[in-house]
Amino acid sequence: MLTNGPDRYGVVSRALHWFTALLFFGMLVLGLTMASLDDADPLKAQLLFYHQSTGLLIFVLTLARLGWLAFSPPPPLPETLQQWEILLAQAVRILMYLLLLAVPVAGYLTLAYDGQDVRFFGLFPVPALVGQDAVLHEVFEEVHEVLVWTLFLLVVLHIAGAVKHRLELGPGVDVLRRMV
Ligand code: HEM
Repeated sequence: MLTNGPDRYGVVSRALHWFTALLFFGMLVLGLTMASLDDADPLKAQLLFYHQSTGLLIFVLTLARLGWLAFSPPPPLPETLQQWEILLAQAVRILMYLLLLAVPVAGYLTLAYDGQDVRFFGLFPVPALVGQDAVLHEVFEEVHEVLVWTLFLLVVLHIAGAVKHRLELGPGVDVLRRMV
């Protein structure tokens, strides 16, 4: 089924979820490798090109995901879950969506305030919406870093929740089954 059902995510939501997860972990590796290189190293500019393009793709995919969820609402969480578990899962989910948008925006601002061209896979340049500013460049570089690691912690919490229900509880609460 393409759309989301009452107790299972549809193909579109599942594809967007796992593709975003794959891109996110790839971006962590890419970002850390890039950050470890010297600014003068030509490999750094090459990795940054793929990093910014893939990051912007994550931004677009997240907007598409939110649009799709508005059209095809997600299956409600099982009623067998405790109230606090439902609240925590919802809060983590909302924060993850916000950060999947905010992390690429902070990355974009880091480059734009540095006066660097931002490109999307060599297809087209992304317009610079702000002028060069050395202080704001530094600020957004820090913001990007802090938001990335906050998102990483939320992803770990999100995975821990899914694994906990898969291992501990009986049938009907295996929330992972709804997404695979
Ligand atoms: C969800 C999307 C993204 C993720 C997960 C991500 C992840 C990362 C990570 C892990 C780092 C290294 C941080 C550290 O040193 O601890 C980094 C650095 C950076 N990212 Fe991203 N990023 C994303 C999107 C973007 C986008 C869209 C852009 C630009 C358009 C961007 C530009 C940068 C820049 C300029 C740096 C600093 C590199 C340096 O050390 O000079 N990022 N990112």
